[in-house]
Amino acid sequence: MRTRLQEFAAAFVVLLCLVALPAWMFSYPIDRPLEDGRRVVALTGVKRAGVWTDQAVNASNHGFADFRPAVVRVDVGEDIVIRLTSADVTHGFYVPELGVGPVEVEPGHVTEVALHGREEGVFEYYCTQVCGECHYFMRGKVIVGNPPNADEPLPGLQNCPGHGESEHASAVETLAERGEQIFAIQGCSNCHGIEGVGGIENFNAIFAKVPALNGLGKRMMLRERADQEAILELLESGADLEAVEDPPFSRYSSFLAQYEGFRNRIHNGNTAVALDKTKPAPPLSMPRWGDVLDEGEITAILAYLITLQKWEK
Ligand code: CUA
Repeated sequence: MRTRLQEFAAAFVVLLCLVALPAWMFSYPIDRPLEDGRRVVALTGVKRAGVWTDQAVNASNHGFADFRPAVVRVDVGEDIVIRLTSADVTHGFYVPELGVGPVEVEPGHVTEVALHGREEGVFEYYCTQVCGECHYFMRGKVIVGNPPNADEPLPGLQNCPGHGESEHASAVETLAERGEQIFAIQGCSNCHGIEGVGGIENFNAIFAKVPALNGLGKRMMLRERADQEAILELLESGADLEAVEDPPFSRYSSFLAQYEGFRNRIHNGNTAVALDKTKPAPPLSMPRWGDVLDEGEITAILAYLITLQKWEK
């Protein structure tokens, strides 16, 4: 027959397993310095928010909290370790200018990378695994020292509007408005700039900056607002552009060739070519949107891009 003492001891062991062990696991400081004194920065990848965050991510806040992209600060000459974990799916981490990564970060694993604050400046980090609809938003800054541009926002960087709620996207009326919405939700502005203004650098790419998209109208041989409006009307009506019997302007066949060229570029994507093959690969490439978007959505994006062309008069 069991004694009271045995029962008490058994209950104590059960309590220890249920409470103390998880408490110890969760309180274990993931960013405690290494034995060699290097500082540790702990980042967690969150697919829903499209961020690498330095905020605590746990079962109770993972589904809804507004996580911020981490800003990693390093002194000039300092060596740190970035300890990466994922809250959900496989993410990537890449700071090409500082020679960090790209590394894959799988859920359930801890991935560590060493980072050396080589010189003062702002250096961008990227996720390199297509991890969900917020993938292209998953970027942020490593600030080394106190550069004058430390507090400037990264060009084109916005919060991912998806946050798992894209079904609540507001109603749109025109094809171009639908394209604008797809452009925002898919994060096209992260590479091409807000409203396609461009200016986003692509480290070690032959084209040092990702192309702007607000001049596509002219590159499609549209010469004036009337041309632009005629094409938008055709697209809105769902007409087959190749089968138009009464072209709205004389250069219509040139327009069509350019339009199809841009359509193919969106559909097939385009891998950025490295300028210097001995250096880290460019972080940004145009993905194959044909795998993600249907033809109607690509048409909507083209309609939106055509509206970005502004005319002087
Ligand atoms: Cu995380 Cu892409």
